[in-house]
Amino acid sequence: MDEKLNWIFSRRSIRKYTDQPVEKDKVRTLLEAAMAAPSAGNRQPWHFVVITDRKALDALVDVHQWAGMLTEAPLCIAVCGEPASSKAEAFWVQDCSAAMQNLLLAAVCLDLGAVWLGIYPAEEPVQTVRELLNIPSNITPLGLAVVGYPAEDKPANTRFDQSKVHDEQFESS
Ligand SMILES: Cc1cc2nc3c(=O)[nH]c(=O)nc-3n(C[C@H](O)[C@H](O)[C@H](O)COP(=O)(O)O)c2cc1C
Repeated sequence: MDEKLNWIFSRRSIRKYTDQPVEKDKVRTLLEAAMAAPSAGNRQPWHFVVITDRKALDALVDVHQWAGMLTEAPLCIAVCGEPASSKAEAFWVQDCSAAMQNLLLAAVCLDLGAVWLGIYPAEEPVQTVRELLNIPSNITPLGLAVVGYPAEDKPANTRFDQSKVHDEQFESS
């Protein structure tokens, strides 16, 4: 594995965290990394809600059944999109996904652990997050980045699969 790329491969979903809060300068860096993502036509149709309040974090657990780690986490960043400001309306999902991935990779560089909780396009979770975080109707929450100092270790991922790679054309004729 190329040493310079190791931080990409060592990104894993971290769902257990210590009590240590995430410093404000690190939160800023996570947001800078997210906003450095590519976006169609460079429209940057994203918004971020930064949540550190314990009660608010605990309330978000109800968003769906795979969000239990929020009760331990010191930080959650909701990555949201503004479809009307993206180049073509549906591009907001790709733009905001790129921002989310940049944020997750930046977390690795900052010795943090993080996990992406999917929200959009599931209607009920979108509605729950909208209500809990007071998000207006023209903005849609794409997902939650749950972040903290890791209290679990996971090996770097090695999921390369040659069968997913197609030479020149998908199917040989
Ligand atoms: C769109 C999306 C939604 C996800 N939603 C959840 C989720 O709700 N809860 C969770 O614990 N992990 C969630 N994950 C994390 C995946 O489970 C995880 O990325 C996958 O199992 C691979 O493991 P790794 O991230 O450690 O490499 C989500 C990931 C993506 C990309």
